[in-house]
Amino acid sequence: MVTLLENPLRVGLQQQRIPPPNVIVFFGASGDLTKRKLVPALYKLKRERQLPPEVTIVGVARREWSDDYFREQMREGIEEFSDGVGSDLVWQDFAQGLFYCPGDIDNAEGYQKLKERLEEIDQIRGTRGNRVFYLAVAPKFFPEAIKQLGAAGMLDDPRKTRLVIEKPFGRDLSSAQALNRVVTEVCKEEQVYRIDHYLGKETVQNLLIFRFANAIFEPLWNRQFVDHVQITVAETVGVEDRAGYYESSGALRDMVQNHLMQLFCLTAMEPPNSLDADSIRTEKVKVIQATHLADVNNLEYSAVRGQYKEGWMKGKQVPGYRQEPGVDPQSITPTYVAMKLAIDNWRWQGVPFYLRTGKRLPKKVSEISIQFRDVPYLIFQSAAKQANANVLTLRMQPNEGIAMRFEVKMPGADLRTRSVEMDFSYGSSFGVTGGDAYDRLLLDCMMGDQTLFTRADEVEAAWRVVTPALSAWEARTDPAVVPQYEAGTWEPSQAELLINRDGRRWRRL
Ligand code: BG6
Repeated sequence: MVTLLENPLRVGLQQQRIPPPNVIVFFGASGDLTKRKLVPALYKLKRERQLPPEVTIVGVARREWSDDYFREQMREGIEEFSDGVGSDLVWQDFAQGLFYCPGDIDNAEGYQKLKERLEEIDQIRGTRGNRVFYLAVAPKFFPEAIKQLGAAGMLDDPRKTRLVIEKPFGRDLSSAQALNRVVTEVCKEEQVYRIDHYLGKETVQNLLIFRFANAIFEPLWNRQFVDHVQITVAETVGVEDRAGYYESSGALRDMVQNHLMQLFCLTAMEPPNSLDADSIRTEKVKVIQATHLADVNNLEYSAVRGQYKEGWMKGKQVPGYRQEPGVDPQSITPTYVAMKLAIDNWRWQGVPFYLRTGKRLPKKVSEISIQFRDVPYLIFQSAAKQANANVLTLRMQPNEGIAMRFEVKMPGADLRTRSVEMDFSYGSSFGVTGGDAYDRLLLDCMMGDQTLFTRADEVEAAWRVVTPALSAWEARTDPAVVPQYEAGTWEPSQAELLINRDGRRWRRL
């Protein structure tokens, strides 16, 4: 019998933990991410009393803001993008720990000033030299910022200083390798937190619990019982005001190489030896290393890109991607990607994993669906045409939960079957849904727990899988070759074909 204390799944993943005093330095402090997600996430932790009083935030950006103006901006962000500041007392206490330090990414002097400011803050706030440097800047600035932090000696102490790097980490395999080299020149892997906010989502973490804390699913989780797997991350939003970033990124770099690959790994990996960071990350690397595009010689059989064109969403006409502000009218940047992946190992040989993601699709939904094989022989001849294979769906968002589809007999004298669902929903079982992921990840980082962050070899392995598609697409610059789909519809016909060719269909969500 396993007791609560002995069971690592119960004690490991979600304990109430208070991190040590820390200064969190946000590079890119005047940007969207800091205002919308990062500072509101820390404020939430503050309200939930999960932060020690010493925790301090320092914003760094080029603009000449004062501490007070920074505080006002952050307050606005909390009001607009989260539950609001609530009690004024809590806000006052939090705001006292917010500072701003103007500086350019490539200006060495600015880093010296920052260093001095942080030392002063240690004195005033009792933060004991513990630092988290968070790069919430455009990816092209990562190498310079890391080099400068290293040159200023700010990453010298691996026990006290940490570096958080946003995604995408690199633009392809070789640039990710180059970036990893820059990182290893100035700090140790144990200081590096490559962030992928999908890993901070409750439902994504629950994949590990679901798979490895239940005895009944694991025996079915393989080529003997699974026909194929579909992983969908669909969004209704378009590019919004992010054309500057998105044009040089696109769906493959923005979503597939990181978020979808993480969902893929957690679904396909072998059970780790334990829940410590390296055991989990080692299993993820192993499965990605066995993975490749299903047919590397025929790209259209394993990867399809698409771009939304003008269409209708919720009764409103919306522009096509090429008409969005800041987007090149001849752009070839994909806003949709579908892929078929194959895994060369004993568990999954011959089981395709279909991944798709896109903007301006009809629904916001992220889910993993495990489609089981048909029964070997159907004894109910009259029901034969109606029997559907079992499907297990893990809904990441919205309506977070898990559903199992199976066949039942319809009431009545006829022998007819129908598919029904057994459904678990976070909302009705726990009265809460997923929430935002950054609070969990920031907390883990302050605690020095790297489990939910991507290791150097993992990020490179993920690039290796997607780079053949990326290179082939970017070599064909003619805008006419990028398949188009109407905003508000599911996918370009080429993506339908990708799966229909195998006698299968995308799930209609
Ligand atoms: C971000 C991407 O990482 O994830 C965005 O840059 C995308 O383009 C977002 O919209 C989706 O995240 P979520 O949590 O809303 O599914």
